[in-house]
Order: sequence, then structure tokens, then C-alpha cells
Amino acid sequence: MAMKRVASSAINAFASSGYLRSSSRFSRHYASSGSKKIVGVFYKGNEYASMNPNFLGCVEGGCGLREWLESKGHQYIVTDDKEGPDCELEKHIPDLHVLISTPFHPAYVTAERIKKAKNLQLLLTAGVGSDHIDLNAAAAAGLTVAEVTGSNVVSVAEDELMRILILVRNFLPGHHQVISGEWNVAGVAYRAHDLEGKTVGTVGCGRIGKLLLQRLKPFNCNLLYHDRVKMDPQLEKETGAKFEEDLDTMLPKCDIVVVNTPLTEKTRGMFDKDRIAKMKKGVLIVNNARGAIMDTQAVVDACSSGHIAGYSGDVWNPQPAPKDHPWRYMPNQAMTPHVSGTTIDAQLRYAAGVKDMLDRYFKGEDFPVQNYIVKAGELAPQYR
Ligand SMILES: NC(=O)c1ccc[n+]([C@@H]2O[C@H](COP(=O)([O-])OP(=O)(O)OC[C@H]3O[C@@H](n4cnc5c(N)ncnc54)[C@H](O)[C@@H]3O)[C@@H](O)[C@H]2O)c1
Repeated sequence: MAMKRVASSAINAFASSGYLRSSSRFSRHYASSGSKKIVGVFYKGNEYASMNPNFLGCVEGGCGLREWLESKGHQYIVTDDKEGPDCELEKHIPDLHVLISTPFHPAYVTAERIKKAKNLQLLLTAGVGSDHIDLNAAAAAGLTVAEVTGSNVVSVAEDELMRILILVRNFLPGHHQVISGEWNVAGVAYRAHDLEGKTVGTVGCGRIGKLLLQRLKPFNCNLLYHDRVKMDPQLEKETGAKFEEDLDTMLPKCDIVVVNTPLTEKTRGMFDKDRIAKMKKGVLIVNNARGAIMDTQAVVDACSSGHIAGYSGDVWNPQPAPKDHPWRYMPNQAMTPHVSGTTIDAQLRYAAGVKDMLDRYFKGEDFPVQNYIVKAGELAPQYR
């Protein structure tokens, strides 16, 4: 019932704007109000779970929701077991009402899972980026998909700045020397540079891209950005960043490229062999957006040939990255697991955002408008 009310207020809000094109998509029958089955899929905290009371983003922390949900009479199941026909998640698919998932340990919500999930009403992403969900299937089934927009954008922008510096200064080989008992200044210095004066371009300039540009401003770089939309002139003036309408015109100008778009049908595989070949020889790439925006093998080949002089990011396709994922073994990489947006500060923010949306869902209220990725049968504009 709560979801019926969410859906019907969505219909009212969006009908006049043309956002809602068809109400025939609402084929799903919704469960009545009362006790809900809520399933959370997070990464396991293991021995680290008890080391910080604010470590809410892991299975053991459960986004800090257990006591609150159970006090309201809801059932709350939390697991990291998300793959294969016999996994824990699969057992709950047929009767769960709400699935909370996270990009850091993505529960892939396929069309097949959506079809089986007869009671499912709401898919909440604890974080930003809901591409692990088949959004078209969710829309067709009349489900709501929402994330905690803005919750970890500072965390990611800071991390991107760190990765840029790590690559520009050729930091990792020196660090590895220290651990392996070596001392070879030349082995680092021959390709260590200053960031000052370099041209940095962000592909996608939304919340994270803008924060990154603001953080780069004091480094005196030449800043460029490409996006579907031009940013506010005041912010353009403040950062000194120049808009590049055409991606392929911007890329050859850049010494450093940072990817900050969501993964959509338009950005999947955006950096393929041909596009990478058009970039400067020796380009550095930072990608904390999504692994599948890159053609995996094209990145391996360009890192091996030196065309890409350094590639760093925390996102992979799929996640967790299998042991034989080629990005683990390619040269010139400074990769990590998916960590940038799950700092403790970010966890506190996205846990609070998930709780707020659940509370609104129970009360039949709308969510903050920027949180919706799928609402009333339609995808948010940048995902279409
Ligand atoms: N690694 C992490 O921990 C982490 C954390 C948060 C977000 N992310 C990723 O970063 C992405 C961006 O996050 P955000 O908060 O800045 O999102 P946002 O929605 O504020 O910004 C995305 C920007 O990309 C632009 N864009 C979309 N499609 C485009 C296209 N085809 N061409 C050019 N520009 C396009 C949009 O216009 C928008 O300005 C997320 O979708 C997510 O995939 C990663």
C-alpha cells in the first residue's frame, strides 16, 4: 500500500511534465501495508566489523537499521551472499518487499530476479550508482529505484585527486621499492611530473566532477569538462574550467582524463580501442565511475603499450573482480577494490539516507526528488 501511494503521487507529480508516458506499465500487484521483508546486501566486515562503531556499511553494521526495523515489526535479513542459484539473496527474492544493495558489493538485480520477486516494491542503493540493477526491467515492473544522491561525492572527489597525484608523481614504483628493500631514485624520477600546468579533463561533470574541479583549481592546471549539460556560469568562472561539447575534441588535449559519468547505455564501453587511440600518448586516466565504461581489453592493451601511462580507479566489471581479472596484472596501474565512496563519513551519510527513504516509504511519502533513478515506470533523464 505504501508503494501504491508513492506510485500514485509520482503519477500526479510527473503527468503534467510528460515524464510519465504510460500507466499501462503498472502491472505489478503490491503487497498490503504491515510487516515488510527487507533484505540488505553489503560487503562483509569480518574481523574489521567490531573495530569501529560507525562501520555501518558492512553486513554486520547492516546500515544501522536492524533495531529500528525490527522495533517496527519488519523482518530484516542481511547478507553478502549474492551470486548463483543457491545464494542467500536468491532464497529471499520470491518474497522480499525491499532490497537494499550497494555499489561496493553489487547485488546484480537482473530482469530474471525482478520477474521472480513478486512482492518487490522498492530497490534502494546505499550509495550512488544503480547500474547493477536492470533499470528498464525495474521500470517495466513498476518498481521504484532510488539512491542516496550526493552521499559520497566528496569522498570520491578527494579520492580522485589522490589518484591523479599518485599517477602524476609516479608514486607507486617508489613505494614498492621501499617494501622490497630497493633504492632507485631514477626508477621513479624518469617519469615523475608536477601536476601544475597539466591539462585535466573530466568526462561527466555532475556532483563529483564539479567537486573535483574545485579541488583541482589551486593546482593551477588547465581544466576542461565534457557533459550533456553546461554547468552554472558562476561555477565555470570560479573553477576556470572550459566546456567541451564534443568529447573527441576534448580528449586529445588532455594529459589527465577523469571519468565521472554514470554507467548508462550511452556510456557503456565509451572508452574503446578507437577512442583510447585518439588520446595523447602517455595519458593518465582515473576512473572511479564504473568499470564497464571502459573496454577492459582496450585498457590492458593501451597500458601494456604505454599509450596509457597510468590507469587508476576503484571500479571493475564485475565486482568483486575475479582473481584473473586482467586489470590486476596490467602494467602502469594503480587500482584498488571499490573503496572511494565508502569512507566512514560516507557510510554515515548513506546509512542515514537509506533510513530516511525507508521511513518515507512506510509513511507513503515521496523521496527527495534527486534520489529517484526509476520512478513511476520511467528512468531518470540521464539513464534514458
Ligand atoms: N567509486 C565510488 O565509490 C563511486 C561513488 C559515487 C559515485 N560513483 C559513480 O560516479 C557517477 C557520477 O556520480 P555523481 O554523483 O557525480 O552523479 P551526477 O548525476 O551528479 O553526475 C553525473 C554527470 O554525468 C553526466 N552524464 C551522464 N551521461 C553522460 C553522457 N553520456 N555524456 C556526458 N555526460 C554524461 C550528467 O549530465 C551529470 O552531469 C555515479 O553514477 C557512479 O557511477 C562512484
